[in-house]
Amino acid sequence: MSGNGQAAKAKSRVMGAWGHLAPDTYCERGEGVYLFDKEGNKTLDFTAGALGVACIGYGDQRVTQAVVEQMKKVSYFQRGFWLNEKLEELAERLTRLAPQNLKWCMFTGSGSASTETAIKLAHQYHLERGKPEKHMVIGRWQGYHGMTLGALSASGMTNRRNKCNAILFQWPKIAAPLCYHCSWKLSYPSCNIRCAWALDEIINQVGSRYVSAFIAEPIGAAATAGMVPVPEYYPIIREVCDKHDVLFIDDEVVCGFGRTGKWFGINHWSVNPDIIVAAKLMHGGYTPLSTVIIDDRIGKLFMEEGATFAHGFTMANNPVSCAVCLTVLDIIEKEGLVERSARLGEYLHKRAREKLSHHATVGDIRGKGLLMGIELVKNKETKEPFDPAVIVAIRVHRIARKKGILVYPTMGVVEGVKGDHLLISPAFVITKDEIDFALGVIDEALTEVEKDVL
Ligand SMILES: Cc1ncc(COP(=O)(O)O)c(C=O)c1O
Repeated sequence: MSGNGQAAKAKSRVMGAWGHLAPDTYCERGEGVYLFDKEGNKTLDFTAGALGVACIGYGDQRVTQAVVEQMKKVSYFQRGFWLNEKLEELAERLTRLAPQNLKWCMFTGSGSASTETAIKLAHQYHLERGKPEKHMVIGRWQGYHGMTLGALSASGMTNRRNKCNAILFQWPKIAAPLCYHCSWKLSYPSCNIRCAWALDEIINQVGSRYVSAFIAEPIGAAATAGMVPVPEYYPIIREVCDKHDVLFIDDEVVCGFGRTGKWFGINHWSVNPDIIVAAKLMHGGYTPLSTVIIDDRIGKLFMEEGATFAHGFTMANNPVSCAVCLTVLDIIEKEGLVERSARLGEYLHKRAREKLSHHATVGDIRGKGLLMGIELVKNKETKEPFDPAVIVAIRVHRIARKKGILVYPTMGVVEGVKGDHLLISPAFVITKDEIDFALGVIDEALTEVEKDVL
């Protein structure tokens, strides 16, 4: 059990928590799927750091070893002056794992910074080819690509955009391809995948000469909690992007490196994006590093054909982080953790349906691999969401946490401001017994919350 308020007692001056998530417990150490507070109380992190970051588990000493070895050699050099074997090895590894057309890598320090990079790269690619007006990045409502201004402009999470709307680019959005809340009230397959063709419509509407890229998470995370588009969706998106000379940016920050049971989320559709943005799982939470993996024709334009990409960050190409990523990727590959994510994912989804579907508030359970969302509704028949003031997902999170389980409460799937979900994204090393235990706690927490809110 945790939540003992050490931080509150110590009058924490750390800013950063927002909304209803206000941590008050000091995290002392981590091991496997568990985090421990100062008193030694353990919490099973069923989220691996909210959105699945700590994919190989906490406290892996092989990573510590890699950090120490690299630090003894060199821990920093300026990216404009030096290359390094670890850097080359990581770029080679990432381009080998990614869809075959992606042949170049840039490194940054966060998912948001990678999204910014992709947005600028897409625009400068068009600029160099004599299409300087192509600048808009079309995103999806309820999509999320980062907190920096460009990334947030491309995102459609209303509750994260609202307070800085005035300083965002007002780029167009299409509806999320979430059958459970179809924006057109249609049913699959007779809908003819209206949600994908919406991209064609909006590009025609605003004029393809102004549109640079379309960005999407292959399987939704923060605001759509495990939304898996139908099989035809991304092939149509690819066709529409090609038709309009619009780049497809695939945001794999959550889905990349096995989270959904394949190396990349987009692999479930066998579609080749032009740019992949990836972060979280590739470093497993050990040290920051993110990447942009780039189509050969785009990379060549800047690396071989004389164009200059005016962009870069101080901590890009950090050799310690590269050593960390290589070790994490080694562990994922050698221990078959992508396959394990697929296998355990099936178990997780099956057991969640068995244990939780009977709840009056559980409207939908969705996702793939070890990424699962549980949407909580006030009325199962009508899918009516709770009043956001009830903070139903937060209530479940708080009770589960007291019982030793961390689940990630998110909101906003309905019109950006309503709709509650729990996100589950454990480390790949979790066991079936631990999955059962955690689901049991969620079951209890739901029962308790339902007494108050229904
Ligand atoms: C899909 C997706 N893209 C981008 C980001 C931004 O990553 P970061 O928080 O590392 O900037 C996130 C963060 O949660 C994310 O979920």
